[in-house]
Amino acid sequence: THCILIGAPVDEGQRRPGCLMGPAAFRTAGLAATLTRLGHTVEDRGDVVPAAPGGETCANPAVHHLPEVIAWTNALREAMAAALPGGMPIVMGGDHSLALGTVAGVAAHAAAAGRPQFVIWLDAHSDFHTVDSTTSGNLHGTPMAYACGLPGFDPFPPFPAPIPGENICMFGIRSVDAAEHAAMQPTEITVNDMRVLDEQGIVAPLRTFLDRVRATGGLLHVSLDVDFLDPSIAPAVGTTVPGGTTFREAHLVMELLHESGLVTSLDLVELNPFLDERGRTARLMVDLVGSLMGRKVFDRPTRSYG
Ligand code: ARG
Ligand code: MN
Ligand code: MN
Ligand code: MN
Repeated sequence: THCILIGAPVDEGQRRPGCLMGPAAFRTAGLAATLTRLGHTVEDRGDVVPAAPGGETCANPAVHHLPEVIAWTNALREAMAAALPGGMPIVMGGDHSLALGTVAGVAAHAAAAGRPQFVIWLDAHSDFHTVDSTTSGNLHGTPMAYACGLPGFDPFPPFPAPIPGENICMFGIRSVDAAEHAAMQPTEITVNDMRVLDEQGIVAPLRTFLDRVRATGGLLHVSLDVDFLDPSIAPAVGTTVPGGTTFREAHLVMELLHESGLVTSLDLVELNPFLDERGRTARLMVDLVGSLMGRKVFDRPTRSYG
């Protein structure tokens, strides 16, 4: 695979400074070398530079840094759409508001190619607020609602090709606000929350979704939020939620995604290196990308497992 690294030092979608150091931390943790060692080619396009923010406003007084986030959305949509024909974009965030742009870019690309777009959202949070409904005012809590074409995003450019709910699978969810819950009810989104994973494990729910992607010939975007992981193994994130996925579960998700051969783009988001302990979260995220791109974490005794 030709991997295209795109730095997205977005910090404005939440209130705890530090995600802007994410791209540097992913580079320092050896993301490019990890991919090269697996036999992939790597092209680092550097960090995206957004245009100067405009003067957009909205009625919700909680919302902050709206023009900055809109500028990032536009820049990242274009960077993503430009990268996709040439390889597999891996976006190094940056907080999760960057997905307003990256998912718009992949959706535009898929629509132009006449193929359905799928998204797997690996996160403690559903990020299903609109600009109107968010009470924190943190726009990193909104990209999934934008991708579904919900109303309430007036200051933003219209989402290019809204993604049908049945093409979206959330995984690892354990923190959903009331307004998000209400907004998701009429959708066909698959929410594999922690209760589902506790009862059914990782494999069956993930296979069900991947089978659907395969059957339709769709493109698959993976959005990996650090808080998908348990805070005990991934402390470098502003929005820790207890009860996250373990090391083994997270690697298993990545290995199954790899074996599917379906993944066409990836976001790595919410890493706040300022909160890390000797780079362990950055390193774990890079290791997870390794599993997604073909590395086997545990040596297996024979080939008979297939
Ligand atoms: N739902 C909460 C909010 O709107 C938390 C969102 C967390 N999102 C994230 N990308 N970490 O503020
Ligand atoms: Mn500011
Ligand atoms: Mn998120
Ligand atoms: Mn989250």
